[in-house]
Amino acid sequence: MSDKLYVFDTTLRDGEQVPGCQLNTIEKIQVAKQLEQLGVDIIEAGFPISSPGDFNSVVEISKAVTWPTICALTRAVQKDIDVAADSLKYAKRKRIHTGIGTSDLHIKYKFNSNREEIIERAVAAVKYAKKYVEDVEFYAEDAGRTENEYLARVVEAVIKAGATVVNIPDTTGYCLPEEYGAKIKYLKEHVDGIDNAIISTHCHNDLGMATANTLMGVLNGARQVEVTINGIGERAGNTSLEEITMILKSHKNIPIETTINTTKIMSVSRMVSGLMNMPVQPNKAIVGRNAFAHSSGIHQDGVLKNVQTYEIIDPKEIGLDDNSIVLTARSGRAALKYRLHVNGVDTTDEKLDKIYQKFLKLADQKKEITDDDILMLAGADIADTHSVKLDFLQVTTGFGVKSVASIGLDISGQKFEETSSGNGPIDAAIKALKKIIRKQMTLKEFTIQAISKGSDDVGKVHMQVEYDGNVYFGFGASTDIVTASVEAYIDCINKFRVR
Ligand code: KIV
Ligand code: ZN
Repeated sequence: MSDKLYVFDTTLRDGEQVPGCQLNTIEKIQVAKQLEQLGVDIIEAGFPISSPGDFNSVVEISKAVTWPTICALTRAVQKDIDVAADSLKYAKRKRIHTGIGTSDLHIKYKFNSNREEIIERAVAAVKYAKKYVEDVEFYAEDAGRTENEYLARVVEAVIKAGATVVNIPDTTGYCLPEEYGAKIKYLKEHVDGIDNAIISTHCHNDLGMATANTLMGVLNGARQVEVTINGIGERAGNTSLEEITMILKSHKNIPIETTINTTKIMSVSRMVSGLMNMPVQPNKAIVGRNAFAHSSGIHQDGVLKNVQTYEIIDPKEIGLDDNSIVLTARSGRAALKYRLHVNGVDTTDEKLDKIYQKFLKLADQKKEITDDDILMLAGADIADTHSVKLDFLQVTTGFGVKSVASIGLDISGQKFEETSSGNGPIDAAIKALKKIIRKQMTLKEFTIQAISKGSDDVGKVHMQVEYDGNVYFGFGASTDIVTASVEAYIDCINKFRVR
């Protein structure tokens, strides 16, 4: 008999902490519903005390999903716990996730405290959370760098206080896999009452070891994994859900199972990447564009003779469908609606109409419209509510000539035009834009990426613009990369206007 491994998804909490990846409540609900379809056991929906937006998202997600437990994060502070409990009032199954730093570094520098006092605060927080909910998870922040003996004392105390799950985060992604596995084993062997709680892993990827560490945790007794879609998360990210799930599915000799419906992995991955404007690296395990692409002749030959020669996973197992319909200018609304649905986006008829108009324009410029393209179009309607809009853009450029751009902007209904030259078409266009928007703005980061392939592909642009001491993130997409760049810059400007 296999043991059940609980999958705790923190895409909407730890994943969403990535600068520039913030989602609004409606988008979070969309992701949460997909996570429910995927079969995750617990959804960490936010850190309610951190902002009214986070609070509201936890409330709305609690109403929108049925099966997964909804979890809210807190510090070991009564006010945080009060607010978290309030945000969970509509959840059918609820959990409060409270905790405190336990490494000597955290105790000394973050809390100016000592080990005994930290245990007292941990116990008090768990007992306080227990007044509101039965299911209380405790996290020992920076457990990866916490001495095992002391960590065992903390874990024992919080289990006695009623913690149902004990989370052992490698907050800084520092541990080696053997070391992390040994930590979990130590707790299993040295904590009185350890079987009264589930041990959870929570690994960060700073040294590229998050998945390996999580697996070692599981092999040594952890029965919950904290993961995110596409491995997104602070800095180098968290353990990715798809990697840990597919490792366990592929290695059938490991008697541990999740209830993840792996055929939904690809659509959730695309949806999260699209909504968060966070491209998936092409060589990313499981969900990267190249994860199943065999380009060397020897591999192609082997795969044609027997796919198992070079493929350990059938792409269909993660929902990669070779026969997926490619849409063209002749595809109707129904086909578009169906592809959006397959990719996890269910829209109203009114929104579908808007997306369809954009789809027709794109289909005019590009022969085949892929799933990535339509997800980009589905996310692009935020631009409709912008007060600064691109009216027109004309660029002359080429080899041996100076680039010149003319730009027209519509600012709350008023039209403005300017022209500028530059060292290239994008430089010229942005200089012209800056002649209209006369603010002290600095472009801090700028990336252009093709969505799929072909010279008629859509270019996605991500930008960071600094203004008035803050950095703003913007996104643009078009078959014309100069237009995409200007749109990304305008996206940033619209964001600093609303603050
Ligand atoms: O990485 C970490 O330690 C965390 C905790 C707040 C659980 O995200
Ligand atoms: Zn974390």
